[in-house]
Amino acid sequence: MPFNKDINNIKGLIHHHEARFLYELAGKTVAQFGNNSILCEIGCFYGKSTVSIASALKEKGAGILYAIDWHQGSRELPGFDTGEYPSTYEEFMNNLKKFAVKERIKIINSKSEDSVTAVPERLHFLWIDGAHDYDAVKADFDNYARKITKGGYLLFHDACWTDYIEPIEVIENEVLDNPDYTLYACVGNTMVFRKTPNRLPGWKRYLLRQLFRYTCGEYRSLPQKILSFGLFRLTTLWTTWRHNGHK
Ligand SMILES: C[S@@+](CC[C@H](N)C(=O)[O-])C[C@H]1O[C@@H](n2cnc3c(N)ncnc32)[C@H](O)[C@@H]1O
Repeated sequence: MPFNKDINNIKGLIHHHEARFLYELAGKTVAQFGNNSILCEIGCFYGKSTVSIASALKEKGAGILYAIDWHQGSRELPGFDTGEYPSTYEEFMNNLKKFAVKERIKIINSKSEDSVTAVPERLHFLWIDGAHDYDAVKADFDNYARKITKGGYLLFHDACWTDYIEPIEVIENEVLDNPDYTLYACVGNTMVFRKTPNRLPGWKRYLLRQLFRYTCGEYRSLPQKILSFGLFRLTTLWTTWRHNGHK
């Protein structure tokens, strides 16, 4: 069954390329790790990413997604901390019902920092898109990525062609040079690593780090923005092509 394009109508903060990629990578995860695959996402909002991932599990009739969100927003979302931020929970639940994916999801309606023990110790796929400040992204990485099994996938949102610099800083400090992770793909604003030994020589890692520093961040010059746009358009096209069965 192809990706259901109606998912793109869910209010959300991911691009349709990313929604489709989440769907495809979730399907690949189940094909790779089997019926008992365990996937986890931090930051569901109205459920665009949740439904994208869970649709693949529904189609395969396998796997389970732990979906963590306290549904009270985060610093970067409009209305946060004004007392007027509307909870996203009700519409989130309606979307799960509408797309009939609820049976593949364990809903965790609380903060990620309080939910670590509610999630199994063995994960095959982890999508980090909760709070975007440095300490929060690092805490999500520290608490959950250690649970990813060998060959599993670690995905960060707002990590590529982005103004949010803090997720990128966590990636730089914790993942790019980490011997346990290899860069796997960049799609839209999503950067994906696999938990496999990083065999990239030091100079390539150095180049990667410089490239990410140059292409991301709030105060980029026009040439930086143009390079960044071109680069991540190319990586998106390349990844989409590969995942559509060309390789
Ligand atoms: C950027 S949005 C997620 C967007 C979503 N992935 C999509 O597809 O549209 C971030 C979400 O993280 C949630 N959030 C923020 N801080 C959190 C925390 N500490 N624990 C759990 N969820 C959190 C917010 O409630 C919000 O719904």
